[in-house]
Amino acid sequence: MRKSGKIYFSLYQWLFLHMWYYVDTAKLPEDVCEKFLQFDQDEETEHFLQNCYDKADWFFTQIGHSLAKSVLSWFMTKTSVNGLLQRGSMFVFSDTQLKQLLNIEDNWRGENLLDLGAGDGMVTQFMAKYFDRVYTTEVSSTMQWRLKEKGYSILNIDEWDNGSLQYDLIGCLNLLDRCDQPMKILNSIHKSLTPGIGKAIIAVVLPFNPYVEQDSEDHLPTQKLSVNGKTFEEQATSFIKDVLEPTGFTVEHFTRLPYLCEGDLHKSFYVLHDVVFVIKPKENG
Ligand SMILES: C[S@@+](CC[C@H](N)C(=O)[O-])C[C@H]1O[C@@H](n2cnc3c(N)ncnc32)[C@H](O)[C@@H]1O
Ligand SMILES: *[C@@H]1O[C@H](CO)[C@@H](O)[C@H](O)[C@H]1NC(C)=O
Repeated sequence: MRKSGKIYFSLYQWLFLHMWYYVDTAKLPEDVCEKFLQFDQDEETEHFLQNCYDKADWFFTQIGHSLAKSVLSWFMTKTSVNGLLQRGSMFVFSDTQLKQLLNIEDNWRGENLLDLGAGDGMVTQFMAKYFDRVYTTEVSSTMQWRLKEKGYSILNIDEWDNGSLQYDLIGCLNLLDRCDQPMKILNSIHKSLTPGIGKAIIAVVLPFNPYVEQDSEDHLPTQKLSVNGKTFEEQATSFIKDVLEPTGFTVEHFTRLPYLCEGDLHKSFYVLHDVVFVIKPKENG
């Protein structure tokens, strides 16, 4: 088990080292291309993956998890099951990649961070170390429980934008395709950032495929984002031109990163493909 894990690890590395981060910049309009940051697999990302393989080696733990999961799945959503079992940890960016995206140094400090749809807070942690106060939102109650455990304040999803707080950074990672009203969230982000310095970091899985897990019968969002095109390049461009810019944002940087999730009995890890934008309100918009 351990051995084959290691072999697959190097195969994956060899095959995907560049694929996971690759964007065909020749297919981007010039003004979009200028904002693209090229990343690569770094030590922290490798460490996360290695940890996934090590965990998969705990064969009996895995059987325990899978059994428990199939029993619990009868009456709980998948997100809640993963939260309860402390499985399904996510990885979006390393510390080094985050600093590059935000254009900050190690000793940079901000006041308020808000991470929307923070999940179990694993990705929040990467941002939290740079802020005095950390706020989060979550609809899943088991995830809220994990966030409380980590010491993060949880704000009501209808109250974080009521004007009583302003945020130097708002994280909105892998949420816009999983929530019912993504436009409402984008507009709220726009008005809740600290004037002059506030930025938001948005991650979206491409190909764009909205799916609402909680409180929805057909799992389709009430608000539809107009993301056009088929390829990663086309959809990333459309997200900028048809969603972010019309909402009054300018894009500082964007990149492509693997969205990694700790695996289960079948696989050591799962990978989706994120486009990650750093945006701020337009100067006079
Ligand atoms: C795919 S997870 C992303 C978790 C984490 N941000 C990450 O990047 O790994 C999406 C999360 O958003 C939560 N969610 C869905 N709609 C929400 C909303 N309107 N407000 C806050 N959280 C929401 C879900 O419960 C889920 O935990
Ligand atoms: C706004 O939300 C905050 C945090 O959830 C809450 O404490 C405060 O009372 C709310 N203010 C108003 C005016 O509703």
